Amino acid sequence: MELKATFYRTMMILKPRNTSLFMYCAMLLMLFLFCLLIRMEVKSSLNGTSMLTQTHKNPPSRSSMIRDKTELNRTAPKIHLECRNNGSLLQIPNGIPVLHQLFLQYKHCRTFRQLLSPKACSNDLFLLMAIKSTAAQIDRRAALRSTWGREGLFSGMRVQLVFLLGRSMDRVRGHPLQPLLHYESRQFGDILQWDFDDSFFNLTLKEVHFLNWFSRECRTAQFVLKGDDDVFVNTGNLLEYLWDKRPNDHLFVGDIISKAVPIRNIRRKYFIPMQMYPKKQYPPYAGGGGYLMSRRTVIGLDRAAQDTDLFPIDDVFVGMCLEKMNVTLVFHDGFRTFGFRQMVTPFNPCIYRGLMLIHKLSPAQMWAMWSLVNDPDLTCTRKFSINV
Ligand SMILES: *[C@@H]1O[C@H](CO)[C@@H](O)[C@H](O)[C@H]1NC(C)=O
Ligand SMILES: *[C@@H]1O[C@H](CO)[C@@H](O)[C@H](O)[C@H]1NC(C)=O
Ligand SMILES: *[C@@H]1O[C@H](CO)[C@@H](O)[C@H](O)[C@H]1NC(C)=O
Ligand SMILES: *[C@@H]1O[C@H](CO)[C@@H](O)[C@H](O)[C@H]1NC(C)=O
Repeated sequence: MELKATFYRTMMILKPRNTSLFMYCAMLLMLFLFCLLIRMEVKSSLNGTSMLTQTHKNPPSRSSMIRDKTELNRTAPKIHLECRNNGSLLQIPNGIPVLHQLFLQYKHCRTFRQLLSPKACSNDLFLLMAIKSTAAQIDRRAALRSTWGREGLFSGMRVQLVFLLGRSMDRVRGHPLQPLLHYESRQFGDILQWDFDDSFFNLTLKEVHFLNWFSRECRTAQFVLKGDDDVFVNTGNLLEYLWDKRPNDHLFVGDIISKAVPIRNIRRKYFIPMQMYPKKQYPPYAGGGGYLMSRRTVIGLDRAAQDTDLFPIDDVFVGMCLEKMNVTLVFHDGFRTFGFRQMVTPFNPCIYRGLMLIHKLSPAQMWAMWSLVNDPDLTCTRKFSINV
């Protein structure tokens, strides 16, 4: 009783003059509903982000592209019916993350249909640039085609570009991207796509399919640059480096990582449980941002990959195959797949002019840097050498 009276008195004091009690109560009710709505909205948007970061199995370089989270509508990947997981065949260890379990369940599924094919490799092809991309990275592909990935003849050496993609569930405002990809493929003839989910743990599948496609369809290429769509490449320097190399010798050069230890911390992105890789060290491998190979090495990798168990980290998987082949991995200072030691890489064309490849640039930065590096009036002192 006491409480009710106090409440009523407080209400009357707070109530503005010239307002009926009924109107006042209605206003309060609306305010309450409004607050509730805001709360729900905040909650759902929080869920939305966490869903993106959890189910989106791409490395940070990839996910960062999906800037406008409201634009992309990611639906759960459908289970592939053509290749069923065989529970009786596999012992899936308990207590490992769901993604790792999924990987093990589908590890035996190694061949998928080709959905989109690029134009044929030309007979005089010197360097094939094979770039991992995903359907949504339209702006990166556009920037790359007009800057360092431009196709054509450079000092008599022919360069051709191909983008490697899986199937994507990404949507733009509810619309799937596949029709757009078909259009892009017709227009540029540089899309190579397969029928598996374009996820982080399927990157090895992309590797295996690329190697196999190369062995069947692109043996005219003398050298291959395999890389990501967010690196900056100094094409001129690559061509100059390859000038005296022979395609029928083994060649594997990049940012070589030796004696890397598998990450056993379950919260980290590259976590690998003991059950998946019991050894203490990985074989030497190249940072996946980009590396160069000769035709002989690519064809050898295709053969070695066929009898190597799939491993979720594609760069390490390639390292495993190279180990089987007894190929020496060559470290080159010009491949900066982890950027520079400094947190902020100076946006200085003189630094980029001395490099082969660097991670990572946005499409707009790619355009800007490309024009700066190729400016004939640019003069660089020796102060800006590679050792940054
Ligand atoms: C995403 O797509 C699903 C089905 O296509 C639809 O029900 C949902 O409303 C969409 N969400 C957004 C945010 O567009
Ligand atoms: C799973 O593999 C075993 C052994 O190869 C085979 O006998 C069985 O039929 C397979 N089951 C399915 C559902 O494919
Ligand atoms: C890889 O792609 C296949 C086919 O789309 C899918 O079934 C599987 O779940 C994917 N694997 C992972 C680990 O994402
Ligand atoms: C690699 O070297 C090892 C040891 O020297 C040898 O046993 C193996 O046959 C070699 N493999 C190839 C593919 O040459």
